[in-house]
Amino acid sequence: MNPVPAVPADRLPALLAAMPKAELHIHIEGSLEPELIFRLAQRNGVALPYADVDALRRAYAFTNLQSFLDIYYAGASVLLHAQDFYEMAWAYLLRASEDNVVRAEIFFDPQTHTARGVSMETMLDGLHRACRDAKKIGVDAELILCFLRHLSEEEAFETLEQALPYRDKFIGVGLDSSELGHPPEKFARVFAKCRQLGLHLVAHAGEEGPPAYVWSALDILKVERIDHGVQSAKDLSLMRRLAQSRIPLTVCPLSNLKLCVFPKLEMHNLRVLLDAGLVATINSDDPAYFGGYMNDNFLQTFAATGLDSRYAYQLARNSFEGSFAEPAAKQRYIERLDAVFADA
Ligand code: ADE
Ligand code: ZN
Repeated sequence: MNPVPAVPADRLPALLAAMPKAELHIHIEGSLEPELIFRLAQRNGVALPYADVDALRRAYAFTNLQSFLDIYYAGASVLLHAQDFYEMAWAYLLRASEDNVVRAEIFFDPQTHTARGVSMETMLDGLHRACRDAKKIGVDAELILCFLRHLSEEEAFETLEQALPYRDKFIGVGLDSSELGHPPEKFARVFAKCRQLGLHLVAHAGEEGPPAYVWSALDILKVERIDHGVQSAKDLSLMRRLAQSRIPLTVCPLSNLKLCVFPKLEMHNLRVLLDAGLVATINSDDPAYFGGYMNDNFLQTFAATGLDSRYAYQLARNSFEGSFAEPAAKQRYIERLDAVFADA
């Protein structure tokens, strides 16, 4: 593991909260809190199929990924103007900075919005402005455009076309939405095109789907990170491949719990992934829906699984090493992490 001395268990929660960290798996539409959904619905005259904030929150009883996605897309329907996208992203970035997130690589789902007549320009105007302003609160924020895998590859190509005039406003592309029945290879050509364009590549794989989907994300899409990837533990040769290639996994423990990927947080396999030498990280996925932002994910996962401070250091370090930051910035983040552990 790493050379960091163990910190007494009673000081671990404060250390988990204080350590600088990168968030590499956050869907900005999944940071929309019910209060903001209702405020935007009222401001924009959008009707919602829920009477009030409490009724909406009561609907957050998910049984699998699809049961969540249905509500998540309904929540995103209140976003119409650049200012709406700005307020959503700014609220997330403020909350992330409270959790000592110093770098955030933020997913957005353009097809959820273009399907409702919201232009790529509108959403990127608001989202990118929030990312730029985040510097003032100590967060380096970048955007990653996700293709919805339940739609066709042709529609992904159309989305890429719409985004290319704003190429300077996002650093990469990802693949999200309903995993089962939509394997990565469905998007082989559009990912090849994005690779030619010099975009970073990531994909959700092995959240609910089998190890075969992780293999094809690696070998066919040629992604640089796997989002989730927890099902990889079912395939030892895949585990060896992930460890040897140092392809990071952006694991989201509270998401996995709420979407019933694991029946209890105590049964999460994060320790198995780390002990096998994988570059695993902790992330919040859709924090407004899954009951916790970054530090909630760290605190609850450590409390449930008994991981110690050496794992905390490794996870934070992995988050910086697995980020798409420039090497000099990575080095600075890791020096700040080391300083926090030296004082612990
Ligand atoms: N979109 C938002 N959250 C997601 C998740 N956990 N899996 C797939 N698509 C998503
Ligand atoms: Zn996700």
